[in-house]
Amino acid sequence: MSLSLKVNLRDNSYKIVIGHNILQDLGGELKALNLNGDAIIITHPVLKKYYGKVLEKSLASVGFGVKFFAIAEGEESKSAKVFIKLLEEIAKYDENKSIFIVALGGGVIGDVSGFVAATYRRGIPYVQVPTTLLAQIDSAIGGKTAIDLSVGKNLAGAFYQPILVYSDVAVLATLDKRQIRNGLSEAVKYGVISDRRLFDFIARHVSKLINLDSKVLSEIVYQCSRIKAKVVEQDEKETKSIRTILNFGHTIGHAIEAAGKFRVYQHGEAVALGMRVASELSVRLKYLTAKEAATLGGVLSDIGLPEKISGVKLPEILKHMMHDKKFKAGKPRFVLATGLGTVKVVEGVSIVDIKAAIQSYL
Ligand SMILES: NC(=O)c1ccc[n+]([C@@H]2O[C@H](COP(=O)([O-])OP(=O)(O)OC[C@H]3O[C@@H](n4cnc5c(N)ncnc54)[C@H](O)[C@@H]3O)[C@@H](O)[C@H]2O)c1
Ligand SMILES: [Zn+2]
Repeated sequence: MSLSLKVNLRDNSYKIVIGHNILQDLGGELKALNLNGDAIIITHPVLKKYYGKVLEKSLASVGFGVKFFAIAEGEESKSAKVFIKLLEEIAKYDENKSIFIVALGGGVIGDVSGFVAATYRRGIPYVQVPTTLLAQIDSAIGGKTAIDLSVGKNLAGAFYQPILVYSDVAVLATLDKRQIRNGLSEAVKYGVISDRRLFDFIARHVSKLINLDSKVLSEIVYQCSRIKAKVVEQDEKETKSIRTILNFGHTIGHAIEAAGKFRVYQHGEAVALGMRVASELSVRLKYLTAKEAATLGGVLSDIGLPEKISGVKLPEILKHMMHDKKFKAGKPRFVLATGLGTVKVVEGVSIVDIKAAIQSYL
């Protein structure tokens, strides 16, 4: 059984397919997209080991050639060096074949493979096969591709949409629980920014989600994908600031992540803390009730996400927040919750209030 939805972007539209144990059907799905030639599967060695065979068999059974390129795990692989190496290796392999890319992995694989696809021969088709919860509900959808530069993350990239996003929740079984919690933090974010029912659904099913109940997990991935797709449809290239609402919890979250030198907290954990601070700020500015903020906090705690900011100092957090381009521009803009399911972008939030909100979690 699988669920599907469409991202409507005129010539760049594509389908998102979500299901349990569907990896073996990818070949047929790709055939239906009129692709031919060879699939270049970019992945990590460990994922090749777990899922490479199934994928290869599925693709070969409908006549595709298959070539794997496995790159090291970790954010370091989103580098110019790895990017160029992939391009060079693909060029050597290519010899005017018809080729397309399959990104089998989390956000790191998705971002770098997407950028390779966007730039190789000025663009070849690519398919996202996200294998982390974060990638399934967020990074694989929307066509933001990138690598990091020494000055900062995601500084070189392109908007380049995949031709298919194929999310098999069964692959999450090999992912460690910390990564599941990270993904759930983003799922809660989707609930808060636009869907009270999703928020309540997550709240009711936390333990099933942590234990990877396939039905509940598929439903969450579907609902979050739907929300991300809707936002992307309205603002494909981030020109209208509609995508801004996806940053709920992220302004402070990024600052906490950076203040801990990306070692103290992983992204989803920092975002959870960022959402706590943002909801506290929302209460202070009278957009949200204390009860609603407590409900949000309770769900994050149930998931096992951090409750207090520890190991990171306030001046460091503020310093990183000030470096944020949204703050440099002048008036700080914040995504504040106006309920559990609605947000508002507020300008000119005072630093005094921000500081006080952070302090309440130190
Ligand atoms: N393009 C976007 O819109 C967007 C949005 C959000 C984040 N991102 C980017 O995504 C990246 C983070 O992505 P991530 O959180 O998926 O991390 P990741 O890609 O580094 O994956 C985390 C770890 O899990 C392992 N892994 C992945 N799937 C697995 C599986 N099924 N079983 C076992 N191990 C598995 C990976 O090998 C890796 O070590 C960042 O670089 C971030 O900038 C991009
Ligand atoms: Zn995020």
